[in-house]
Amino acid sequence: MNGLVLDFLSDADLARVLEIEEASFSLPWSPAVFSDQIRMKQHSWCLCLRETAEEEVLGYAIFWLAVDEIHLMNIAVSPRHRQRGYGDLLLRAVMHLGRKLEAERIVLEVRVSNQVAIRLYEKYQFRTVVVRPRYYSDNNEDAYLMMQEPVMEPAGEDLFFNPRVLDRVQTALRRIYRA
Ligand SMILES: CC(C)(COP(=O)(O)OP(=O)(O)OC[C@H]1O[C@@H](n2cnc3c(N)ncnc32)[C@H](O)[C@@H]1OP(=O)(O)O)[C@@H](O)C(=O)NCCC(=O)NCCS
Repeated sequence: MNGLVLDFLSDADLARVLEIEEASFSLPWSPAVFSDQIRMKQHSWCLCLRETAEEEVLGYAIFWLAVDEIHLMNIAVSPRHRQRGYGDLLLRAVMHLGRKLEAERIVLEVRVSNQVAIRLYEKYQFRTVVVRPRYYSDNNEDAYLMMQEPVMEPAGEDLFFNPRVLDRVQTALRRIYRA
């Protein structure tokens, strides 16, 4: 997977991200939601997988860090780049940052019908904690609340982060320890 870097999303990526989002979800996030996530740097981490030559975003994973818990809010890979290990790589990047940020667990919601995503999560020992009935407003589908605890240290030899991502980990840790 040469030529790929894990970076932060910026407003300049929004058009591309919305393209992926709308192709991926029946209730896609709006541009305003993405912009808010990008701006909320205290809590929200908007990671993306970027192809270095073209700077094209191939996928993204957005998570919140709340004290010792990571909530994975969104993860998607561009339809034409799926089944090449990029979703796996993004999830491992979240786990790796979770370890560095000293999070105890990662939680997420997933549609009960989303077998592809559930397989990905189960591969990394996420387990279903509870069913959230009628969680999704478009079709009243239930969600599984899935959790990985403790946060697993993933294989990381192919995780190449833009240094600014790792700088932000250090800043976040300094803030936690000052509190
Ligand atoms: C879920 C998603 C991010 C996976 O991305 P991807 O890049 O295609 O996944 P990868 O190629 O890295 O595969 C990782 C694992 O996912 C599972 N998986 C991927 N594609 C699969 C398929 N077609 N059928 C079954 N399992 C599949 C497998 O467990 C796979 O691991 P393996 O290759 O060791 O078997 C992608 O399908 C996607 O963007 N879906 C739409 C958005 C979405 O549903 N997000 C999750 C919201 S909770």
